[in-house]
Amino acid sequence: MQTNVFFLPELINSGTIGGSCCVIIDVLRATTTIVTALANGARSIIPCLSIEQATEIANQQQVLLGGERDCVKPETFDLGNSPTEYSSDVVKDIDIAFTTTNGTKAMLACARADKILLAAFSNLSAITSSTAQESTLNIICSGTNGEITLEDVLLAGAIVHSRIEQPLAGVNDQATLALNAWEEIIASDVPATSLLDKMKESRGGRNLLQVDKVADVQFAANIDTTSMIPTLHPTSLIITASN
Ligand code: MLT
Repeated sequence: MQTNVFFLPELINSGTIGGSCCVIIDVLRATTTIVTALANGARSIIPCLSIEQATEIANQQQVLLGGERDCVKPETFDLGNSPTEYSSDVVKDIDIAFTTTNGTKAMLACARADKILLAAFSNLSAITSSTAQESTLNIICSGTNGEITLEDVLLAGAIVHSRIEQPLAGVNDQATLALNAWEEIIASDVPATSLLDKMKESRGGRNLLQVDKVADVQFAANIDTTSMIPTLHPTSLIITASN
């Protein structure tokens, strides 16, 4: 078994991605929000690279527009990127054209993979059990504007932890670093508090604290609240539920 972590989409080894299973992570907040939207009954999420592309889709079909730039909802959008905005009364049976600064880019960077799953702390156990038998798993962190972010690395480490019996076998060095970061959390006295503290200190966390979104960091730090696994279909490039 091989487990690879890429701390940024730019670090992906393209030879490894083709035909593999990829797990995409943007804990703060794109993948957390998408997991929540689908768990609350959204029909599909259409990831878009730009506000213009999402708006174009909204001009052609009935969708809600969701996402952010600089952590803030674009003026013409219906929804921002806070998971709590995607409640069932808002999103049930609805298609959502969705664009975020980093998360949707990371998803679309993996379009050549066979299977593309989206992970958050909220669906950690569902992701680890559904990928347990994958002979090669590539875990891709979104980062923030080309910088590695701790919150994504921690979740990558949690997924690596679930697959590794002998820590140094079958992993790339980024997987080992992620695993070390996660093992520090689980060795602490109160892992849940330690995770939340680290997420607040992280690059993504600090950005959200600056715009008064601490509640989103708290939401994203909750582990195993759903078994929903969003899947990005490599041909249609649409995300739907796969649980
Ligand atoms: C992103 O894609 O860059 C993030 O989801 C940003 C955010 O927290 O809104």
